[in-house]
Amino acid sequence: MTGFFDVQAIRALFPVAEKMTYLDSGFQAPMSGPVKAALETFIRESYETAGPKSIWLDRLENTRRKVAALLNADETEIAFTKNTSEAMNVAANALPLRAGDNVLLIEGDHPNNAYAFLNLTKKGVDVRFVPMAETVDAESFRPYVDARTRAISMSYVTFHAGHCFDIESVGAFCKERNLYFVLDIMQAVGVVPIDAKKIGATFIGSGTHKGLLVPQGLGLLYWDRTRVELEPAYLATISLEHPPADLIARANNMALARTAGRFEIGNFNLPAAHALGAALDLIGGIGVQNIQSHCFELGDRLIAGLDKLGVRLVGPRDRARRAPHIYVAALPAGEWLDYLASKQVRVSPERDGVRISLGMFNTSADIDRFLNVVGERAVAVRKSSRAA
Ligand SMILES: Cc1ncc(COP(=O)(O)O)c(C=O)c1O
Repeated sequence: MTGFFDVQAIRALFPVAEKMTYLDSGFQAPMSGPVKAALETFIRESYETAGPKSIWLDRLENTRRKVAALLNADETEIAFTKNTSEAMNVAANALPLRAGDNVLLIEGDHPNNAYAFLNLTKKGVDVRFVPMAETVDAESFRPYVDARTRAISMSYVTFHAGHCFDIESVGAFCKERNLYFVLDIMQAVGVVPIDAKKIGATFIGSGTHKGLLVPQGLGLLYWDRTRVELEPAYLATISLEHPPADLIARANNMALARTAGRFEIGNFNLPAAHALGAALDLIGGIGVQNIQSHCFELGDRLIAGLDKLGVRLVGPRDRARRAPHIYVAALPAGEWLDYLASKQVRVSPERDGVRISLGMFNTSADIDRFLNVVGERAVAVRKSSRAA
C-alpha cells in the first residue's frame, strides 16, 4: 500500500460501503459525498435561480480541462457525449470508411463498441473479428490487416473478465500501418492511468459512471485534433466554428469547430458534468496510480483467497495482463447471485461466473468478507453432499 492512500478516509465518502459489501463498481460506482454535494448545488441553483447558465457552462469547461488533464490531452480534444456508445458511434461515423473497407474488432468485446461498427456493414464496410486472447496486442491484429483495413477498435479493459490489453503496441501498429485507432476506456478510466498521446489513439470513448464516479448519462470523447479530416455525422449550432450570433442557420456558415466541440450536439448534461468535476477533484487528489496500486493489492488478496477455496479465476492472473479492479470468479451466476445478495454482497453476473469489481473505497475486509461468504456456502454444500 502506498503511504498516501488513506482508505478509511476515502471509504467515509462512500456511505454505501457501510451498508453492504459493494464489489460492483464495474457496473456502477456508488455515489460519494463530493458528487452528491455537486448535484445538490446544481439542484439548489436550478430550483432557486434557474441558472445562471454562463456559470454552469464555465463549470462545464472547467470539467473539460480536468478530463483533458486526466487523459493527457488538450482541452480542445475533449467532447462530452451521453455515454460510451454515443462516443463510439460518433467515432465510427466520422471515419472516412467506404464500401469494401474493413475494420478490425475483438470477438466478444463489449457489444456497445461492436454495434457502432456493425451498423456500417449496411454501407458495405466489412467488420472482422479477431479472436479474444489473454493478451491482445499488435501481433493479434497483424495477420488480419490487408490493403483495405482502415481501423481497429477495441476496449482497453474487458468488462467480462478483466483483461487489460496492450493498447500502446496496438497504437504503434496503427501508426505503422496508417490505421485509425478507436479505443473504449469505459472499464479502465479512473483506475488505470490513460495517456492519449502515448496510446496514439484517434478517438477514445467512455462513459463516466464507473471509475469516474458519477451517475449514468454522461460520456466523453477524445479526438486527436491533428485528424482534421474527421467530421461529425450530425451537426448542431455548437458544432460550428462560428455559431451565428443571430441564431439563424445559413448554408454558407457550416465550418466545423476546430475543437472536439465539432462532435457535440445541443445542450449538455450539466448536473452530471458538474458532478464529474467534483469526482475528478477527488480522483486527482488521490492519484490514479495510487487507486491502481490499491486495487491491485486487493486483487492479489482476492486471487490468493479464491485459490485457497479452489475457485477458478476466469481472466488473467498476471498483473501485466489483468486490470487492477475486475475479477471474475467461476461461480455460476445463476447459483450464486441470489445467495450473495442475501448476504448483502453486491457483485455482477458475468458470462463465466460472478464479477467482483473494485473501487477506491474497498478494503481488504471487503475481500475477506466475500471470500468468507463464498467459503461458508461451499463448506455447507460439501457437508450436505457427504450426508446425502
Ligand atoms: C467496455 C464497456 N464499454 C461500454 C460500456 C457501456 O456503454 P454505455 O456507456 O454506452 O452504456 C460498458 C459497460 O457498461 C463497458 O464495460
